[in-house]
Amino acid sequence: MSFDDFHKVNDTKLLEEVSKICSSFEVNAEQIKEMTSYFIQQMEIGLANNNNNEGTINGNKAGLAMIPSYVTSKPNGTEEGLFMAAVLGGMNFRICSVQLNGDHTFDIKQAKTRIPDYLLEGTDATSDDLFGFLARRTSAFINKFHSDIMKPDTPLKLGFTFSYPVDQESLNSGTLIRWTKGLNIPDTVGKDVVQLYQEQLTIVGLNMVNVVALTNDTIGTFLSLCYAQGSTIDGQVSGEISEPVIGCIFGTGTNGCYMEKIENIKKLPDYIRERLIHEGKTEMCINIEWGSFDNDDLVLPTTKYDIDIDKKYAKNGGQLFEKRVSGMFLGEILRNVLVDLHSKGLILTQFRKHEQLPHRLKTPFQLSSEVLARIEIDDSSTLRETELSFLQSLRLPTTLAERRAIQSLVRVISRRSAYLASVPISAILIKTNALNKKYHGEVTVGYDGSIIELYPGFKSMMRQALAMGPIGPEGERKTHFVHSKDSGSAGGALCALVA
Ligand code: GLC
Repeated sequence: MSFDDFHKVNDTKLLEEVSKICSSFEVNAEQIKEMTSYFIQQMEIGLANNNNNEGTINGNKAGLAMIPSYVTSKPNGTEEGLFMAAVLGGMNFRICSVQLNGDHTFDIKQAKTRIPDYLLEGTDATSDDLFGFLARRTSAFINKFHSDIMKPDTPLKLGFTFSYPVDQESLNSGTLIRWTKGLNIPDTVGKDVVQLYQEQLTIVGLNMVNVVALTNDTIGTFLSLCYAQGSTIDGQVSGEISEPVIGCIFGTGTNGCYMEKIENIKKLPDYIRERLIHEGKTEMCINIEWGSFDNDDLVLPTTKYDIDIDKKYAKNGGQLFEKRVSGMFLGEILRNVLVDLHSKGLILTQFRKHEQLPHRLKTPFQLSSEVLARIEIDDSSTLRETELSFLQSLRLPTTLAERRAIQSLVRVISRRSAYLASVPISAILIKTNALNKKYHGEVTVGYDGSIIELYPGFKSMMRQALAMGPIGPEGERKTHFVHSKDSGSAGGALCALVA
């Protein structure tokens, strides 16, 4: 066989195999509906059980974590004051001061730092190392921007937006259930993260900074949406005529929150529920922790690549839904498919054996979702952008046939992610009956995160799936997506305000 013939045969085989793989990533309307009703059921179970999503309770599936946040009211945009916010999530730490102007706007000063390698997963870092680092960054920020207001007798309120699952019994305390997304400091699990941070703030001499509220990033997103848009005040709405219903994140991780009636949160200890009702509270924001939806893998679409990834990164609570949806994993799914195609001799044939594959393709998490985003929209006839992306990110030359295969794979992986992303949104809208309530059922979903914000076509694909799912085109039309800018910082500040 000539060299050209060999390539033609190989290209056909590659095409056939890739089209099989692509079909295994497809998700149809029936699956979306099935997953949505299972999601609602898991929400109900989670509201009744104190489960933290860890397994099985009395033979029943444990349900979603559904963590009570102790946030019982929504801001309306008239709030004022200067608050500090600390935001830990993903790979960065941000420390900010937020001036709420009382007119739906705010001004932020902030400093962002990457979490240093010595604190990341795989090291023997301790809680003191991590929270000591956060306290030192906080001190540097305050010295730089707010030395004027640093007086021992003037306390500064700080809201801590902590994007990991915590068990809360009040707004200003919470014990870490498990780490997710690249951090894994075992001795923090089971400890109160507010206390750990406060202790280290005292050590660096910041006694006047009081960590008064702990919140999840999704709740930050929701609160800053309410502040920016204006929620109901005595039945009147300031801002747009549409009800803020959901706060969600589709970025390194994925998760969401919504307001639930206190009477429905069966797992709240009786004395807390009674106290809240006595105080006139009717609803509370619930952090769903939907990244671990269907950790038993009963309804999620699952390819052999997902099974490998689920197994390989099984710690941190499974997070099966997150592994199919979030930005941290989209590139990793593609990388696994490519390594498999290579092992079958169908792609990158210049590297005959696995050992010869470039180190970068063999290394987990080397393909970022930014690379996928560029490939997704490459419409040049030679797929030039794809070629450049592979050269730049992996130093890998590719043939046109390979690039076509890669682009098809990228597009099914991102479509599946966006289709799955619609499931929790429909589920919450149905569970809360929001589409049949105020303002003719027009609802707002506040979002943040790199994937939903920046990945080309993600939101449109998500909307498409909303229309295919149980709320149908009518429900999809009434659902408005609004980007909550600086949600972690503004949300942290708003939480500190209500504390
Ligand atoms: C992970 C965390 C969750 C967070 C989400 C988005 O799923 O467990 O707490 O909200 O990422 O950052």
